[in-house]
This record gives sequence, C-alpha cells and structure tokens, in this order.
Amino acid sequence: MSSEESEFGIIGMAVMGQNLALNIEQSGYRVSVYNRTDSKTKDFKQKRASDRDIVATYELEEFISSLERPRKVLILVKAGKPVDMVIDQLLPLMEEGDIIIDGGNSHFQDTNRRVKKVEGEGLHYLGTGISGGEYGALHGPSIMPGGHREAYDEVSEILRSAAAQTPEGPTCKYLGPRSAGHYVKMVHNGIEYAVMQSIAEVYWAMKNLLDLSHEDMADRFEAWNQRLDAYLMEITVEILREEDEKTGRPLLEVILDTAKQKGTGKWTSQSALDLGVPVPTITAAVDARLLSARKDQRGRLDELYGELGNYETYEGFEDDLGKALYLSIVTAYAQGLDLLEEASEEYNYGLDIQDVAQIWKDGCIIRSDLLDPISESYSSEGLDTLLASEEFQDDYREAIPSLRKVVSALSKTDLICLALSASLNYFNSLTAERLPANMIQAQRDYFGAHTYQRVDEEGTFHTEWQDIKNV
Ligand code: 6PG
Repeated sequence: MSSEESEFGIIGMAVMGQNLALNIEQSGYRVSVYNRTDSKTKDFKQKRASDRDIVATYELEEFISSLERPRKVLILVKAGKPVDMVIDQLLPLMEEGDIIIDGGNSHFQDTNRRVKKVEGEGLHYLGTGISGGEYGALHGPSIMPGGHREAYDEVSEILRSAAAQTPEGPTCKYLGPRSAGHYVKMVHNGIEYAVMQSIAEVYWAMKNLLDLSHEDMADRFEAWNQRLDAYLMEITVEILREEDEKTGRPLLEVILDTAKQKGTGKWTSQSALDLGVPVPTITAAVDARLLSARKDQRGRLDELYGELGNYETYEGFEDDLGKALYLSIVTAYAQGLDLLEEASEEYNYGLDIQDVAQIWKDGCIIRSDLLDPISESYSSEGLDTLLASEEFQDDYREAIPSLRKVVSALSKTDLICLALSASLNYFNSLTAERLPANMIQAQRDYFGAHTYQRVDEEGTFHTEWQDIKNV
C-alpha cells in the first residue's frame, strides 16, 4: 500500500457523512470523501477538515483510486433510488474483494437485492444501520452491520473505533448475513416511534389534565428518567425547557402539531404483519403520526365534536403517569425484540439479542439503561418475551395498575392514548389465558364453514349454524 492511500472512503457529504468522516479520521484513519455536488466537498474540506487527514476528491475515479485495497466505501446518501444509482456508478470502478457499505436507512428487502447484485460482481456488500443522528455520527454512533462475515472483519476495526464506547465494548458488532443489520436498524426505529409517542401522550396528559407548566413537566420527566437514563427522555426535558426567541413562549407551544415520517416505523409494522408478530404500540405510533398529519380535517371535526371533551382534575395522578410511561416504553422494546426473534428465525439471521442490546446501549436514539436488564433477560435460555423475564416481572406487577388508571382516565376525555392503550392491551392480551377469540372462530365457521376447535376435544369441528334451505 502506498502511504498516500486512504483506508476508508465515504460517499455523500451531507451532515452525517461529514461527521462520520471526521469521527473516523479522529480514530486514526485517513479518509477519502466524495459528493455528487463538488461544492459540498469543497466547503467541508475548507471549513471543517482543512487540518485533517481527509482527502477531498471530485471525480468518482479519483475517489476510488485514492483508496487502499480492498477498498472500503461507505455510502451515506438518501435511502431508495440514490443508493442504487451510486452502486451502479461504483461497480465498474471497483474490483473483486472491495467492500461497499450502505450506512443509510435502507429497506431490508432492498438490501437483500443489492447484496445479490454486488456479491454477483465479486464484491462485498454490508447493509449497515447507523443511529445517533448528527451528534452520534461525530462522537460515536451505534452501528448495526450485516452482510458478508469476512468483509465485516475487514472493516470491523474502523467501524468499532468510530462507534460509541461502553465499558462492555464498542456499540458495533456483526449481526448476521444479508440484511440483518438493516432489519435491526428498522426495528430500532420502530421502537423509537413507540417510545416517542408514549412520551408525547404523557406530556399531553400532564399539560391538559394536570395543567402543569413546561418547567414543571420537564422536572417530572427528568425525575422519571433517573430510572431509565433514556436519550429520548433526556431530550424531552430539554425540549420542554426551550424558550422561543421570537415570542418568549415555550418553543414547544409554537411548533405545529403534525409529525412527519420517512417510513422506517411503517416498515416495522408492515414487516411485523407479514411475519405475524403483534407490535401494537409501534403501529399505534405510526397511526398517531398519520392522524396528526390530518390537520385540516382535525380542525373541522373539532368544531363538530369539540364540546364532548370532558376534563376533570386528577389528583395523585402524576406518579401513575410516570409508571405508565415506564411500562409503555418497556413494552415497546418487548414488541420490537419479539419481532427481531421471529425475523431472525424466518430470515436465518442468527441474531443474538444480547449483541443487539449491547449495540443499542449507547450512541443510538433508543439508548437507555433499560438495555442492561434487557440483555440480562436474554441471557436465560428460551426466553420468548420480555414480559416473562425475571428482570421485568416486578416492574409489570408494580406499574400495570398505573397504566390501567392512566388509560382509563384519558379515555374519559378527548385526549389521546393510542400508544399507552396499545401497550396495555398488548399486556392484557398476552397475559390472558382466555380471549374472546372463541367468538371469532364461531363467526368464521358460521359464515364460511371454516371450522373451529373445541376446548374439551381434539380435532376440527363444524356446526350447521343455520338451516340453509330456510334462509
Ligand atoms: C437514528 C434515527 C434516524 C432518523 C430517523 C427519523 O437512529 O439516528 O432513527 O435514522 O432520525 O430515520 O425517522 P422518521 O423521519 O421516520 O421519524
């Protein structure tokens, strides 16, 4: 290798790409960078990387030939078509054994398709989820790599040194073949949606039922977060304390109540439905964003039905809100991990949930101290749900009454509890030895002769529910 060559290359100089380049260089590697639009690369080099061992390149050929072999190229462009376009441009320039790493939020099925294509050309492809936003990219993200094992080993040292560092090691570990990494990142985002929505509902309940100031709400979230040490709770506290420069009001008050989404939460629910895994809190969070987007319709219907809102004062309710939130958050992880286990079976990923918990422990958006007992839970053989784990049984026992109280109080008003009630109903369903599905079986048999099973006898049964001749 010539000493002039770079050990790592990054394509895509938006903020994530810039920050990761700086992070990887900081870890001791020379990095080449390239962006479709020259000016971005030039700006980055001049303003942020002038004294760094970062090589700015302006042609793809120049970029590729600046890299030592096997070349390691991280793509950080918008998920979807742009990834395919970059791959198509790279393939003729790269050589056997070179490695392409897709660090975006790609759909796992796109990753499977790209793995086939790239491996078919004798190169390697690592579908790699990267979480932690701009800050994480610069200071240590959580990295979820999947794909060819030996290709991962080639880049492991670089990725692990750029990842967040915990006492148990870096938050980057090989997860499994093909799209394993992107699948895990997708579920990470599904959990992210569910936790965010649970927090939003509790904020809304505190604001409307308890009439607390933003500062007081921030204090409550801060106190509850002692137990969780969760990043999403931490930023909630800071958001609640932020003042709007223009009006002097809490900034949150002037932010429009419609939430956008890029799709990863929806993909989680879609995949869960495909695999037959219930993830109602995640799905509720996706629904909540869809409902929030109907701002005009909501306004019109509020005029029609607004007077039906019925608020009372709820004393001694705060403590319940904290417990309900805690439990809804645990339940979001329980659903996501259940999905990961099923997907691992179905797609032969061979996922180790303890590795996933280690990767999520720091650097990512759903990082929290909860990942320790979660990891501990999955150290026991045969655990099929967090609800059954010894680490969480006491928490469920202690907090379920609060979750019931909160959902029931909110249900008496026009305030929403989509995620909180989904978590409660998930718990109620999974812990009910008997459910009303006997009625569903009977109905199916009635209208479609789909048969049913009995509680007292093996086999399938059918009843002539109606006398067809007389109907
Ligand atoms: C992360 C985030 C990141 C991004 C989400 C936002 O882990 O760093 O999840 O990937 O912020 O994709 O997703 P929505 O636009 O769907 O909310």
